[in-house]
Amino acid sequence: MLVLSAKTGHAHEQGAFAHLYFVVQGEQATDKYVQKMSEQFGINLAAIMETQNFTGKNGDLLLLPVTKDGSVRLLIFAGIGKKDSSLRSFELYRRALASAIKKAQAARATTISVQLPDHNHFGVNVDHLAYNSAIIAKMSAYCFDEFIAQETRDECVDLVEIMFCALTDDAVVGDAVARGAIVAQSVNKARHWIDLPPSKLTPPHLADYAQEIVNEHDNLSMTMFGEDEVIKMGMGGLAGVSKGSDVDCRLVLIEYNCGNPQAETLAFVGKGITFDSGGLSLKPPRFMETMKEDMSGAAAVLATMQAVAQLKPNVNIIGVTPLSENLPSGKATKPGDIITFYNGKTAEVKNTDAEGRLVLADALSYVVQHHKPAMIIDLATLTGACAYALGPFYTGLFSLHDELADKIKASGDRSGDYVWRLPMTDDYKKAIKSPVADICNIGNSKIQAGATTAAHFLQNFVGDTPWVHLDIAGTAFDVPDISYYRTGATGVGVRLLVDLAMNWKK
Ligand code: BES
Ligand code: MN
Ligand code: ZN
Repeated sequence: MLVLSAKTGHAHEQGAFAHLYFVVQGEQATDKYVQKMSEQFGINLAAIMETQNFTGKNGDLLLLPVTKDGSVRLLIFAGIGKKDSSLRSFELYRRALASAIKKAQAARATTISVQLPDHNHFGVNVDHLAYNSAIIAKMSAYCFDEFIAQETRDECVDLVEIMFCALTDDAVVGDAVARGAIVAQSVNKARHWIDLPPSKLTPPHLADYAQEIVNEHDNLSMTMFGEDEVIKMGMGGLAGVSKGSDVDCRLVLIEYNCGNPQAETLAFVGKGITFDSGGLSLKPPRFMETMKEDMSGAAAVLATMQAVAQLKPNVNIIGVTPLSENLPSGKATKPGDIITFYNGKTAEVKNTDAEGRLVLADALSYVVQHHKPAMIIDLATLTGACAYALGPFYTGLFSLHDELADKIKASGDRSGDYVWRLPMTDDYKKAIKSPVADICNIGNSKIQAGATTAAHFLQNFVGDTPWVHLDIAGTAFDVPDISYYRTGATGVGVRLLVDLAMNWKK
């Protein structure tokens, strides 16, 4: 497993194969590390950069194998643009670091030392810089290749250690790197569950993984309901979605106890459809291909619980995941069926492919009634409409609670799990009226706005609790052009939830 460490001093002094330095745009000839490396390895780096058109602008990357005393080292220089304290500038730093690490990995580097750039360049503090660097380094190294023959696993060599080097503030850097490693471990764990084939990750599998996490931490406890109990408790949404499947559904709750009896409880709820075929309202093949991703919300919530157990925020947290398959069969819920949820409300199921809101309805009702949380945030790969509206770079945020929405937007901005708020006014509410039940599970075609009408559906199950819904349909899987991701799962949500937990009481 990849170890992240913090070192005082220079990257080239460390016993690593690759040394990574960041260069400010326009300072490629004067940079002290460029000069130092030129002396150290007897080369003219400024001249080499000139021929390679490397000026330090964002996206510039130079890899240079060098030799000293007969051994080979890999020098890497990455551009970080001009001094700029915008969110974008720091996000481009994340991507520059990720590109460099992936290139080093492809060049067979097993150890990399990274000279942290000046935090003032981005207008952030040392902690933020080091914490994010650690997270991104570990996220960049993630690979899902266990089903590929060993000899042909060409993309990822197993990285052994990444060392973060700073000349000062070493205690701050050490602590930040350690926390970042914990968070990235959770992000990558979520990605791994999501990337697993849907027949290898069914509700019982994921519930077992949740149990493993809980067993490892004294401050976590778990409650689990199987399909029989779900039916008995009157959770017609979760039971109804699971009816077509031969595998039992689960409702898994993990509680993190911070040890302070006065502390509030935050509820994190995640959609856990381990495969979404659409049910009898069957999806066309092209849309079904990646539907193992439909438990990305649950994966984010469960993996976050592992991180908070170690980071120990001063607030209680309950993670709630309704887990089910959505499959067609002679036993499946039919379009036209009417189901009754845990809170007593009924819904007409016009389309069995709008199943996420059905399982979430019961999970939200349950946590509101039994745990009285101070706030609820749910994460769900809920609608194609949200992915169409925002693409893969922003998660959709829906809320009737401005203060909480702003708080979560701030967590998104700090963590890199960016969100964009979409409307949820009453105008859209009538889209989910039903002539035969309290509400209908799909919106009417005159109003469209499928992501917003889905949010309104969920709103029926949170009562007065301040609540934010995040639609991660566009951001959970196969996100292009962001170098710290690869094909497959992104683990979106973990970084944001951890930030929210850690900054709730400040
Ligand atoms: N899981 C899908 C949404 C989805 C789409 C997630 C693309 C990730 C990528 C969800 O269950 C679904 O099928 N939603 C339907 C709702 C519709 C029937 C109202 C959709 O978006 O088409
Ligand atoms: Mn669906
Ligand atoms: Zn779904």
